[in-house]
Amino acid sequence: MKDILKETIKNKRTSYTPIWFMRQAGRYLPEFREIRKNNQDFIKLCLNPSLVNEITLQPIKRFDLDAAIIFSDILMIPYGLGQKVEFKKGFGPILSDINFNEIIDTNSQNFTEKLLPVYQGIKEVKKNLKEKNLIGFTGAPWTLLLYMLNKESPKNNFDFNKITKDKDLVNKLLEKITEFICLHIDKQIEAGANVIQIFDSWAGLLPKKELQNYCYNPTAKIIDYLKSKKITVICFPKGIGENYLDFCSVVKPDCVSIDYEIDPKWIKEKLNGIPIQGGLDPKILFTDKENIKVNVEKYLNIFKDYPYIFNLGHGVLPETKPEIIEYIINIIRNKK
Ligand code: CP3
Repeated sequence: MKDILKETIKNKRTSYTPIWFMRQAGRYLPEFREIRKNNQDFIKLCLNPSLVNEITLQPIKRFDLDAAIIFSDILMIPYGLGQKVEFKKGFGPILSDINFNEIIDTNSQNFTEKLLPVYQGIKEVKKNLKEKNLIGFTGAPWTLLLYMLNKESPKNNFDFNKITKDKDLVNKLLEKITEFICLHIDKQIEAGANVIQIFDSWAGLLPKKELQNYCYNPTAKIIDYLKSKKITVICFPKGIGENYLDFCSVVKPDCVSIDYEIDPKWIKEKLNGIPIQGGLDPKILFTDKENIKVNVEKYLNIFKDYPYIFNLGHGVLPETKPEIIEYIINIIRNKK
């Protein structure tokens, strides 16, 4: 079936459940680890169009998923704005101090020149994918601002008041990031992506009273821009709990991806038809097959009369066995 994911979102059809997985191209796949072994510099790997093509297609070849997500990273935007980004094994990303003037002075030409190989990679994938959806993505303004100012994962170390102390700097940066997110999305669409996912992985760290300022409003700006261009967009404001409802009423995404802390029954009743994606806890995939089946079917049953895209409540964890992904796909595809 052509464009099945987009059809679920646009036409709210429910006769078939499309499936893809966040981080479907990644470390749980031996064929990815094999490439990674010989490419120690992760940013360079994301700037190699032929390897981007190969890695993006790895999970499609193995599992025949309904959509490919381009192999890249949300931190390519800080990189495009001139910040140094490295990945330390077992620690995560490390970013250099920001040079505010250099960032503000970056123009669209500098940025797209630096990220040209990303767009070339998307073009290659598109040629090989044929009729399947190709998902492009970006970090949301807040999550990117956080990495740029915190310079490492907030898992290790994070203080909201400290990183947002200089309000003038924060506001200017947010504006710049938002503008370049739109540009990065435009370029991905031009290269062949036909759905966009916006990852706000750290929205859950925002104090409730700051959600409007840092999460809803900047994301709504991007969505308004994308709607004017008729681009289909999925939002993932991870970790905001009951605030998912406010998020949806302010931002109005085409589809919302839910994390594993959201009660699927509750959100289905409250959302009035906005298509939903995901939800299953990635850690469930470490338990026995019977339990996995019960949990997958829980989501399928709850969303059986609702526009729903199967996915997890966050990315596939590196320790996941590929055969479990196949097992889940079979459960979904064999269900009438
Ligand atoms: O989903 C996909 O298959 C597409 C590729 C993709 C990657 N990163 C590749 C990747 C996507 C969509 C992302 C998004 C991303 N990157 C997010 C948002 C989603 C989320 O997980 O919340 C975030 C927060 C990042 C930033 C990032 N990139 C971190 C924190 C890390 C380190 C993770 C770790 O455990 O070391 C990365 C690295 C990264 N991005 C890897 C992959 C496959 C692993 C790199 C490796 O092989 O070491």
